[in-house]
Amino acid sequence: MSPMKVLFVTSEFSGLAKAGGLGEVSAGLPLALRHRGIDVRVLMPAYPDVIAKLPDITWFGRLTGRAAIPGCRIGVAMLPDGTILYLVGAPSLYDRRGTPYCTPEGKDWPDNHLRFARLSLAASDIARGRGNLGWQPDLVHVHDWPGGLTPAYMRWDGVDVPTVMTIHNIAYQGLCDAALRPRIGIPEHAFQMEGVEFHGRISFLKAGLYYARHVTAVSPTYAREITTEALGAGLHGLMQGIAERGSLSGIVNGIDESWDPVSDPHLPHHFDPEDLQGKQANAQVVRDSLCLRPSDGPLFGIVSRLVHQKGLDLVAEAANSIVEQGGQIAILGLGDPEIEHMLSRTSRRHRDDIGVLIGFNEPMARRIVAGSDFTLMPSRFEPCGLTQMQAQRYGALPIAHATGGLADTIDDGSTGFLFSDLSHDGLMSACWRAFDAYEDTDQLAAMRRTAMARSFGWAGAAAEYEALYRDLCGVRVEQPTATPARKPLLPPAEMDVAA
Ligand code: ADP
Ligand code: GLC
Repeated sequence: MSPMKVLFVTSEFSGLAKAGGLGEVSAGLPLALRHRGIDVRVLMPAYPDVIAKLPDITWFGRLTGRAAIPGCRIGVAMLPDGTILYLVGAPSLYDRRGTPYCTPEGKDWPDNHLRFARLSLAASDIARGRGNLGWQPDLVHVHDWPGGLTPAYMRWDGVDVPTVMTIHNIAYQGLCDAALRPRIGIPEHAFQMEGVEFHGRISFLKAGLYYARHVTAVSPTYAREITTEALGAGLHGLMQGIAERGSLSGIVNGIDESWDPVSDPHLPHHFDPEDLQGKQANAQVVRDSLCLRPSDGPLFGIVSRLVHQKGLDLVAEAANSIVEQGGQIAILGLGDPEIEHMLSRTSRRHRDDIGVLIGFNEPMARRIVAGSDFTLMPSRFEPCGLTQMQAQRYGALPIAHATGGLADTIDDGSTGFLFSDLSHDGLMSACWRAFDAYEDTDQLAAMRRTAMARSFGWAGAAAEYEALYRDLCGVRVEQPTATPARKPLLPPAEMDVAA
């Protein structure tokens, strides 16, 4: 039997172009699926960084444009681990400095609608066998709003290949002005509530959710949360409908196996649960790098995109109490200038005990996690979160709001500290529990051992996605996979209440 073929559509890929966790998922999950015998190929834009980092790209396929979407070429490259990348080459859209979504000054590119319509249309065309690639997928798996128009173009063009849309963050919706509709080839009839329209605008994310055969979110708790008004970002009604027909599931992400304190090449000192001297030495490296005073107190680490979602205003509020109690805080992050300034101000008030590094730096990220006793994650919402899994692997017990993937991957009191009340008092109550554990060396050692023993690899998620793919492609699964195929998320009674 030939392997099942899956096209991944994404805007980020770790090591090539990454803004957050999506890049890590786009690199980690296809590899794990390939280990299960699935032929996954990844389609993404050919940003300049991608071209610069991939020496051997073969350009051959050409796809035509549509409306104002320019034509493109498709390049093919293979990574050392065997992953095949298809690159959408459209220099007028992608050949510019900045992040995948923003100018170097942090403003969204004004033509993002064209940039990601191009990506989506290329995916739809490859699904119908165009582009001269000699390869056609059995299923298309789209990630977040940038690929959101893929299932829509496929529907309008009559491409009958099953589609999965994964929501990594429902708050990012890819909205654009309704007047742009003809320019990105959206038919007039589709601009309505039963289609791509969202409060008078075009929503790429809604297009994907509406037209995809199945929708997944990156944790079971988040999959439930997005059916509620509080966390559905205006799409909760649509999400309830999708859940009711059994087409919404939640699958927790994994993390890369390089997150191993025994062998991580970015760490100056290695360690394991039985010998934590290296962990203390890493803490000293972090203190030195951030000019913090020597201390026997606990080190609280934060590695995060600095955006409202992450609740770091609560950390700024809690800083005094944490420092008064003998704690120190090491922060690495990049994002919203207001949050950067807020944290820098907090650090200036406690120069010896709070250090902030603004920037994106993989070795420093890993050192902070490795050196920290605790990791602060008071996220307002967190679809999955990778940092808390990395933190557990490195014995930096997470202190986290019990939401989304944080609630699904942290065992309260065993591998970390969860709090439900998202407020200063809520966060501080969890911090006090952490301070107590820090004093009780037996409890601290036991919690670290349990946390570090968790694996968080990609195998479990890959098994769940495979079951879903096979279900959607109508392939009988001969061998039972690790987890059962999808089932409705909410019992009917709860759905009635939510509706
Ligand atoms: P999100 O995708 O919402 O940013 P996740 O927890 O899923 O949150 O993933 C964040 C990933 O990005 C983690 O692997 C984290 O280490 C990494 N990361 C975030 N900020 C930085 C930074 N400033 N430097 C290095 N890595 C970072
Ligand atoms: C998003 C979410 C994060 C998740 C990541 C990967 O960036 O904010 O919680 O871990 O996607 O799925």
